[in-house]
Amino acid sequence: MTTCTDNWEQVEAAAKLVLGDSIVAMIEQCRKEPHPESQLIAVLHEVQGKFGYLGDAHLDAVAQLMQVPASKVAGVASFYHFFRLKPRGKFMINVCLGTACYVKGADRVAQRIIDELGITWGETSKDGVFTLEGTRCLGTCGLAPVVMIDDQVHGEVTPEQVPALLEKYLKKAKE
Ligand code: FES
Repeated sequence: MTTCTDNWEQVEAAAKLVLGDSIVAMIEQCRKEPHPESQLIAVLHEVQGKFGYLGDAHLDAVAQLMQVPASKVAGVASFYHFFRLKPRGKFMINVCLGTACYVKGADRVAQRIIDELGITWGETSKDGVFTLEGTRCLGTCGLAPVVMIDDQVHGEVTPEQVPALLEKYLKKAKE
């Protein structure tokens, strides 16, 4: 459903609260283009870059401002795997599931992380500290098995090392 309103100022003000001034300005620029909807993916990237995920309120605000049906915006957001529809944790854990890491026991390391945090792939721990994802080869096969936490590479990780590794980041989260 396309949102049409006589009170554009109200729509803009509400969108600014949800998306912030810079993204609203970007969308307004897009609206001046001949096919604003062709900029939808770029806009959603910008929103995710700012907030870390695309929530319902973000998607609704984008749909209203771009005058694109909300169903289309939601469809694009859920179609592409790089869009995240739930908030991510403070730290992103990426376990390499490439061949070299798998051969060296990445599955056992991943299982230990899953057991310790009580979450599975794509989920965020209840305390909001960790989100767990699997990734392809990180290009550091010599250090297999590799776990990347945010931009920090941890090599030759064993399942036994996992609790201490997580604890280190839990402490950071409290700083
Ligand atoms: S397979 Fe894991 S870093 Fe290459």
